Amino acid sequence: MRRFLIAGNWKMHKTVSEAIELVRELKNLVKDVSDRDILICPPFTALYPVSKELEGSNITLGGQNMYFEEQGAFTGEISPLMLKSVGCSYVILGHSERRHIFGESDELINKKVLSSINHGLIPILCVGELLEERENGKTKEVVEEQIREGLKNVNKDAEFVIAYEPVWAIGTGKTATPELAEEVHLFIREVLSDMFGNEKASSVKILYGGSVKPENAAGLLKMENIDGALVGGASLKAESFAKIVKFDM
Ligand code: G3P
Repeated sequence: MRRFLIAGNWKMHKTVSEAIELVRELKNLVKDVSDRDILICPPFTALYPVSKELEGSNITLGGQNMYFEEQGAFTGEISPLMLKSVGCSYVILGHSERRHIFGESDELINKKVLSSINHGLIPILCVGELLEERENGKTKEVVEEQIREGLKNVNKDAEFVIAYEPVWAIGTGKTATPELAEEVHLFIREVLSDMFGNEKASSVKILYGGSVKPENAAGLLKMENIDGALVGGASLKAESFAKIVKFDM
């Protein structure tokens, strides 16, 4: 059985004091949740103070990105060792904003995925098609390539999470319908099965991301192959994120 994972990607939001305020409120709202995993991914500057706030809580911490090297002359980058040292157990990789604003390639993302696993972090590999690709009937082709390239040389025993985020649904208020998302999630599981075998494929969590809100979360999460959510905007308020975490099954 796959446990639900509800993850908040704060993107470039929240100063340290704002982050602490949000996490204090959130901790309290979700303190009784024990049947699903909760993750927040604040910006790098807030990771350490937030990790102190999270001690002893049921919320885990993740980074929003990392470079694949451990250290060196890579100005502006963050390494897996650094994420580990501030208490992260997950890292989001290949987010569409990294791919499309910062030009990250599948090859670079794959190096990051391998490095995160080698350092004991669980990568959340994000995949998803642009509106134009969907309109041209290329959704599955694009997603399959991102999965196969992103997970190249990954050992089948490694733990990783996939997040399907159709780019046209991110921050736009346009959510994929549960049926439409489920179709792609099922396809992703088939690709994983072909790469790693059935048993592994059925154990991998596949999250949906793209305008998830308290009002649409339950509809998406009741689909068979949707194992959680990667939430952007609605994770910036404790109340709305907590509502998504506590969706009714
Ligand atoms: O990683 C989360 C994401 O890109 C979705 O953002 O604001 O549409 O929930 P949002």
